[in-house]
Amino acid sequence: MSALTPLIAGNWKMNKTRAQAEEYIQALLPAVSSVDAVDVAICVPFTALEAMVDSARGSRVEVYAQNMHQEPEGAFTGEVSATMLNDVGAQGVVLGHSERREHFGETDRALALKVPAALAAGMTPILCVGETEGERDNDDTDRKLRQQIKDALAGVRDERLAEVVIAYEPIWAIGTGRVASAEQAQEAIAFIRALVGDRDSSAAEKLRILYGGSVKPENAAELMALKDVNGALVGGASLEADSFAQIVLAGAG
Ligand code: PGA
Repeated sequence: MSALTPLIAGNWKMNKTRAQAEEYIQALLPAVSSVDAVDVAICVPFTALEAMVDSARGSRVEVYAQNMHQEPEGAFTGEVSATMLNDVGAQGVVLGHSERREHFGETDRALALKVPAALAAGMTPILCVGETEGERDNDDTDRKLRQQIKDALAGVRDERLAEVVIAYEPIWAIGTGRVASAEQAQEAIAFIRALVGDRDSSAAEKLRILYGGSVKPENAAELMALKDVNGALVGGASLEADSFAQIVLAGAG
C-alpha cells in the first residue's frame, strides 16, 4: 500500500430500509471508531441518505450516494442532482458503476459531466471502471480501461484530478465470488494510474484507486497490501456491519 490514506467504501446497492440502515450504523460505528489511517464510506440508497448522515455525524464514517444526474436541476423525472445530494449532506457519490452502465444506460459521455458536477458540489466521486470477462479473454482490458478513464475524466481539470477516486471493478468479479488475482488487480490498477499520469503525473501519485469485486474479510488484506491499491469498493460483504468492519480493519493494515 502506498502512503495515501486508503478508502474502504461499502456499496449497499438497492438494500436496506431506514430501520435496517439505522441498526447497521449503530453496529458499525463502535467497530471502526478506533481504526486509524483509513477513510470509511457507506454508499447508501437515496432514501437512507439523510438518516445515515445524521447518525454518522462526528464519526469517521462518511455517507455517499450511488448515482446522480449531471444537471443541477430541471425536467429529469426520477433523477437527483449533485446539489440535492449536497443538500442532505452526502460527502461523495459512486458514478459509473457497472450495474448502472448495464441496466440503466449509463454512458461515458454522461460521466464526463457527472464527475466534474460532483466535484463542483464538493463531493468525492468514486468513478467505477472495469472490463467484462469477454474483454479480458480477448486482451481488450487495457483498451477498455483507457477509453473509460479518458472519456469519464475529460471534463475534470488537472488541478482537481487527484480528488477523484477511481474504483477498478472487473465486471466478472462483481457479485460472483470470483475475485481478481493479486496480479490482475495490481496490473490493472497500475495501468490506470499510468493513464492518469499521462495527463498529470502529480495527480497520479495522489489519486486513490480502489479494487472492487468480491472483496471479503478473507481476501481483503492481500488485496489491500498491493502496491498500487488504495482501498476497496465492497458490495455484498458490506451489507453486514461485522464483515464490513473486518474489511475496514484490513484496509488499516
Ligand atoms: P461485490 O460488489 O463486492 O458484491 O462483488 C462490488 C460492487 O459492485 O461494487
